[in-house]
Amino acid sequence: MNLPAIETITVALGERSYPVSIGSGLLADHARWRDALRGKHVLVMSNTTVAPLYLDHVAKGLEGLSWSSLLLEDGEAHKSFANIGVALDALAKLGATRDACIIALGGGVIGDMAGFTAACWMRGIDFIQMPTTLLAMVDSSVGGKTGVNHPGGKNLIGAFHQPVAVVADTDTLATLPDRELRAGLAEVIKYGLIWDPELFDWIEANVGAIIGRDPDMLRLAIARSCEIKAMVVAADEREQSLRAVLNFGHTFGHAIEAATGYARYLHGEAVALGMLMACDLSARLGMIDADVTQRLRSLLLEAGLPVEPPRIGAAAALGLMQMDKKVQAGSIRLVLLERLGKAAIVSRYPQAALDELLTRYCG
Ligand SMILES: NC(=O)c1ccc[n+]([C@@H]2O[C@H](COP(=O)([O-])OP(=O)(O)OC[C@H]3O[C@@H](n4cnc5c(N)ncnc54)[C@H](O)[C@@H]3O)[C@@H](O)[C@H]2O)c1
Repeated sequence: MNLPAIETITVALGERSYPVSIGSGLLADHARWRDALRGKHVLVMSNTTVAPLYLDHVAKGLEGLSWSSLLLEDGEAHKSFANIGVALDALAKLGATRDACIIALGGGVIGDMAGFTAACWMRGIDFIQMPTTLLAMVDSSVGGKTGVNHPGGKNLIGAFHQPVAVVADTDTLATLPDRELRAGLAEVIKYGLIWDPELFDWIEANVGAIIGRDPDMLRLAIARSCEIKAMVVAADEREQSLRAVLNFGHTFGHAIEAATGYARYLHGEAVALGMLMACDLSARLGMIDADVTQRLRSLLLEAGLPVEPPRIGAAAALGLMQMDKKVQAGSIRLVLLERLGKAAIVSRYPQAALDELLTRYCG
């Protein structure tokens, strides 16, 4: 696979279509994104970890505009409705008009909050995603799901609001902690499993180089992931049907995250465990060969991702799965594999098979 140094993918949504640019040096390459700013007001939202590293690169591109930055504290705990109020206050202070733009500089937490703030101000202003984690580059910055957590659950408050551009500067991954990089890779592996068997083979062959942050390998992995996400979002923006396949491994993963207080696992790590369980269940139901589960397990181990779920108890796991946002009319819809590279949404399956799986993995 060969790609140009900078890859641009379009998320095709008619008038709301937007480019996703992926490559080295993009934050400082202002010509690439400055045109996306329509008005003179810009609020850069970031956090206290990312801003000291990269805000300067962005600031140089904002010369001549009326802009300010809002640096939130780092962490999922700060992805709160209260902080949306803080961001809206910052827009008011800036005197932000309808043509204002918010720039999200950070990982998925900042991206989700900046997007939701943009959706709220004056019933919707522009925002640009500048993702700085692998997870945000391959997943959260593309597709327009925005929001914050509620004490009652993760991401319960939110809106669909598409960015006007995504600028993924792969140089920023140089400072990302190893564990975060591996967690992001789990989502790349997901795209291989649900959509692209060649991508899965390619990750198997190159996992060492990807984890070793080879720039070409990272760019390839991000570009292919974004291509797949863009296709799925273009086909089903509001998750009426197809987009649900992107939740592969997530229903199990969310249960594990919730049972462990969102403290023990990064999201991508919980998704890795969830994908293994979903794969295993697909095999037990005769949908795929057992060797797919074996291959996934080996790949996760090589990627430094967990493969042994915590013993949270089968009943507790089932209870938490039933609280997932994807549950419809009380039945847990599972995303399973029909084959390596093709996912299916399954509403009818023997409950005993799910119970047996949960007992085996969760105790
Ligand atoms: N909107 C969506 O479609 C979608 C999809 C998946 C996940 N999400 C959300 O994304 C969030 C998780 O995103 P995440 O994994 O990016 O976590 P994150 O935003 O918390 O970032 C992870 C950590 O890395 C730090 N960091 C970010 N970039 C860095 C860099 N370049 N160098 C050094 N440190 C850096 C952050 O400060 C943070 O401590 C969750 O809130 C999840 O709900 C949203």
